[in-house]
Amino acid sequence: MQTLILAGGKGTRLRPLTLHTPKPIVPIVNRPFIHYQLDLLRPLNADGAMGVLLSLSYQPRRIEEALAHEELGGIRLRSVVERQPLGTAGAMRNVRSQVTGTLLVLNGDILTDIDLRPVLERHRARRAAATLVLVNVEDTRAYGVVELDDEGRIRGFYEKPESGVTSAKSINAGIYLLEPDVLDLIPEGREYSFEYDLFPRLLTSGLPLYGEVTDAYWLDIGTPERYRQANADVLSGRLRRYPPESSPPLTPDGSAVDAGATLKSGVSVTRSVIGANCYLENDVQVMDSVVLAGARIAEGARVSSSIIGRGAHVGSNSMLRNVVLGDKSVVTDFSRLG
Ligand code: GDD
Ligand code: MG
Repeated sequence: MQTLILAGGKGTRLRPLTLHTPKPIVPIVNRPFIHYQLDLLRPLNADGAMGVLLSLSYQPRRIEEALAHEELGGIRLRSVVERQPLGTAGAMRNVRSQVTGTLLVLNGDILTDIDLRPVLERHRARRAAATLVLVNVEDTRAYGVVELDDEGRIRGFYEKPESGVTSAKSINAGIYLLEPDVLDLIPEGREYSFEYDLFPRLLTSGLPLYGEVTDAYWLDIGTPERYRQANADVLSGRLRRYPPESSPPLTPDGSAVDAGATLKSGVSVTRSVIGANCYLENDVQVMDSVVLAGARIAEGARVSSSIIGRGAHVGSNSMLRNVVLGDKSVVTDFSRLG
């Protein structure tokens, strides 16, 4: 079995966090995001033959460096770098010659605890050309919306539809199983999108396309609000199938504090993540926040519902609420933000 992880996007909606750290390796609870996706693949790797292709375009070296020293638990990882971004489906075409059987495709920014084994079984039993995993959400506007018939066959696909176009509540979760002949429909060497180009084409081709609705945990981490949500959900144990052996040790206040962080006296950290080499001075209070590696928070500052970028400096007695600070930001003493 082979997997392609689409990890070439610029992550614009997650700026400033993605200016120097591409989305696949932004840390969720002090662990590069892509590791959560590799966790998802392990149950499918019973035969130890899983090959993972990482389709990269934006800051590929940073991603490769971040993964070079990691223990990947028997998964063979290779990256393919696009000279220019080819779009979600263009990236697939690029690896066509390396694909021999059913291909699993993952958007590189979705956090989920779905068990993909039954999805693969049904894909095979139905002899589907493509199976898309779907989730039901209330507000579908930011996603690809999918209409299914009674047999679970896909009858309509609308990427980020205007209101009134469809009332369906199932959205594309960014997880696809594709047979190799589907990849042959993608033109070579030019930008091509799964969502806007390939999918509509497949719908008119008459090939059997199925949707598989899951009620597993699922989140696209691609905005600061959802990034913070992802951290909170891992902390609070909302990912049911998330393997406990790789779960971070939590403090009694439901926080994950990296062993290399320094917390001076009177510091309180609640439902938050504190990264490596952070320095929290006396009486700092952090709540519902993510403090990335190397940040420094000076005496008496209070930070809530915020993201503090790598190496940022929050001045003493500041109060920050609902703020996103980019890497190396400096907030002067006694500031009020948010
Ligand atoms: N290699 C490569 N090249 N990867 C790309 C490119 C590219 O040109 N463009 C985007 N990607 C990757 C991104 O890195 C991301 O992991 C994934 O493709 C999806 O791109 P996003 O930019 O995050 O798309 P989206 O969130 O707006 O919408 C997509 O995901 C939704 C679910 O989260 C669509 O697939 C929607 O239909 C879907 O509902
Ligand atoms: Mg996304």
